[in-house]
Amino acid sequence: MNYFLLFVMILSVFSETPLSSSNPDLYGPCSKEFKCGNVSAGFPFWGGEDQRPPECGHPGLQLQCEDNHAAILEILSVRYRVLDIKKETKILKIAREDYKGGICRHNIQNTNLDATLFVSAPGYVNITLLYDCPVDLPALKNFSCGFHGFNSSKNFIHPEVFHGPMFCSASASVLVHVPSPTVEAIEQSLKDGFEIKWKVDDERCPKCLKSNGSCGIDPGNKTVCHCQEPGSSLEGCPVFPLPPGASQPPQPPSNANKRGPKNTINLENAMNTCEKYLYSFGVRWLTTYFSQ
Ligand SMILES: *[C@@H]1O[C@H](CO)[C@@H](O)[C@H](O)[C@H]1NC(C)=O
Ligand SMILES: *[C@@H]1O[C@H](CO)[C@@H](O)[C@H](O)[C@H]1NC(C)=O
Ligand SMILES: *[C@@H]1O[C@H](CO)[C@@H](O)[C@H](O)[C@H]1NC(C)=O
Ligand SMILES: *[C@@H]1O[C@H](CO)[C@@H](O)[C@H](O)[C@H]1NC(C)=O
Ligand SMILES: *[C@@H]1O[C@H](CO)[C@@H](O)[C@H](O)[C@H]1NC(C)=O
Ligand SMILES: *[C@@H]1O[C@H](CO)[C@@H](O)[C@H](O)[C@H]1NC(C)=O
Repeated sequence: MNYFLLFVMILSVFSETPLSSSNPDLYGPCSKEFKCGNVSAGFPFWGGEDQRPPECGHPGLQLQCEDNHAAILEILSVRYRVLDIKKETKILKIAREDYKGGICRHNIQNTNLDATLFVSAPGYVNITLLYDCPVDLPALKNFSCGFHGFNSSKNFIHPEVFHGPMFCSASASVLVHVPSPTVEAIEQSLKDGFEIKWKVDDERCPKCLKSNGSCGIDPGNKTVCHCQEPGSSLEGCPVFPLPPGASQPPQPPSNANKRGPKNTINLENAMNTCEKYLYSFGVRWLTTYFSQ
């Protein structure tokens, strides 16, 4: 019987495992929104002081609120200011924070997107800014930057993707929405920002929200549902109505606490069946044995 109890305990541990990714302590924090300036964000974003903890969003979508008004998102070590979040279309409008002061930069980085998480929206061109080149490139538009060793009029705008600085000191790729860029248009476009689309699998989220849960992310970057009651599932919280195909009548959410005893009953039934089987097998063997 002790082994039986142990077996029951092991079984109930296994039956709880899929639920452990959902945590009622996270229901409250994950139903809060990140708010900063005129930007507010829910799932799949997280971050902010006392706002959304890491379990409430994708690890690549941490927001920071600077000076209580600027929402900042960092992508592959480049800081972007978040201008708009369109939840329905999963579109994020961001602007390079480092280029807000103009096109001349000392610390130069490409606009790289984490391809597992983002796709760039149509309508933007990836152009390349070339800094401090040794020669004139008459085919390209030039601009001057007079600081930090970039004291040169030989800086150029390459209107498309251009790999590497080549013979220039540095290069940076930036996304702009101007087809034939001038310096002024590029500077304005860098301030206006660009749109990207996030690719977080949140198919389960509407169902979760409908069942009064709040969405979060598990360690495998999969969407999970955090419920007010323990005993939640990946498919939403245990509230009415039951998912299609379920044959049990609706039960109050607190039935999660009865899980142990219920499993025990089922196991006892199984044990009885097993004993009956062994018993009838034995009887049959004895009958066969004695009839010979
Ligand atoms: C928030 O304000 C900035 C300017 O401060 C503006 O560019 C942006 O479009 C605004 N975003 C929203 C969602 O209103
Ligand atoms: C733009 O092109 C550069 C290559 O020069 C690349 O490294 C970068 O990832 C591209 N950016 C986007 C957003 O596609
Ligand atoms: C830039 O170079 C010019 C001459 O080429 C020089 O007169 C000027 O002082 C330099 N400016 C800086 C900031 O180094
Ligand atoms: C662009 O290049 C031309 C020719 O080298 C030069 O005269 C002009 O001053 C440059 N313009 C800027 C904005 O640096
Ligand atoms: C969700 O909660 C609200 C109020 O807390 C309640 O009125 C509603 O019935 C709940 N919905 C479900 C599906 O349980
Ligand atoms: C989750 O996403 C982060 C950021 O995009 C990534 O670094 C990490 O490898 C991902 N984890 C898994 C298990 O896919």
